[in-house]
Amino acid sequence: MHDQETTTHSAEDDPRNRDILIYVDGELKHRDEAKVSVYDSGFMLGDGMWEGLRLYNGKWAFLDDHMDRLYEACKAVALDIGLDRETLVAELERTREANGMETDVHCRLMVTRGVKVRPFQHPSLSRTGPTIVMILEHSKPVDALQKKGIRLATVPQVRGLPMSQDAKYNSHSKLNCVIACLQAEQAGADEGLMLDPHGFVNTTNACNFFIVRKGEVWTSTGDYCMNGVTRRKVIDLCRANDIPVFEKNYSLVEAYGADEAFLTGTFGAQTPVAEIDGRPIGPDGGRGPVLTRIRELYKAAVAEDTA
Ligand SMILES: Cc1ncc(COP(=O)(O)O)c(C=O)c1O
Repeated sequence: MHDQETTTHSAEDDPRNRDILIYVDGELKHRDEAKVSVYDSGFMLGDGMWEGLRLYNGKWAFLDDHMDRLYEACKAVALDIGLDRETLVAELERTREANGMETDVHCRLMVTRGVKVRPFQHPSLSRTGPTIVMILEHSKPVDALQKKGIRLATVPQVRGLPMSQDAKYNSHSKLNCVIACLQAEQAGADEGLMLDPHGFVNTTNACNFFIVRKGEVWTSTGDYCMNGVTRRKVIDLCRANDIPVFEKNYSLVEAYGADEAFLTGTFGAQTPVAEIDGRPIGPDGGRGPVLTRIRELYKAAVAEDTA
């Protein structure tokens, strides 16, 4: 089994999470009482979209970017959220206030096509909906993520083409990613490094992936991977601060030979990658001056956005 402490979403245990209130379709329910129907489209088919958001100093970081992505994805699959953005954000705030939460909080905001009248696929069978759920938990990434870094294994599961299931859908169905994660676990790693259909390094099963070579930051073209909010912030911060950054195709040879490597995601911000397929990355476990600088810049950007 993998080391529980170093999966990319490992958070410190927080006893306050035992009694959180969860938003379910306008009602706030104790976590033990928060339930959705077995006929729900999200449960039955993975037919829904979600966002992972983070709270700092009482404010949701990069909230507009998350809402843009959610509403865009729902529009693309004709999933009517039923609430405008202001109302959805007001409901998120109501849930936050009811839980008395201020900082180091992670929210999983989920919207599904709703409850079906019969247990079959056709979207028109979802007559009561959508189903909207918001789980807000006290959540602090464990220190080990920064200290030890993450171990990646390249996995046989590849990223899909946009005309199959576009990777830009943050859909409830994450089976492609879950299979990649299982393969990584079986290979003794914490997370799977996924290639694109041409064999170029693309992303991991739950985060976006960057390498640093001779002071340059490289990440995939953006095709085949999640349009991560953190990924975009890192690229924009590099550009604004004269750190050379390239969205390009590159191979495993260049990833193994990187000086630094890191993952990006809302939960962990930037997490060093200590090894890929058993090869240590750089002289210092994936960390180095460029990642340190990016982490500082990102922290400042979050502080500015949540001031
Ligand atoms: C497959 C995948 N890649 C990357 C990310 C990171 O995206 P973000 O930076 O918006 O959290 C996510 C988060 O949902 C994801 O599911």
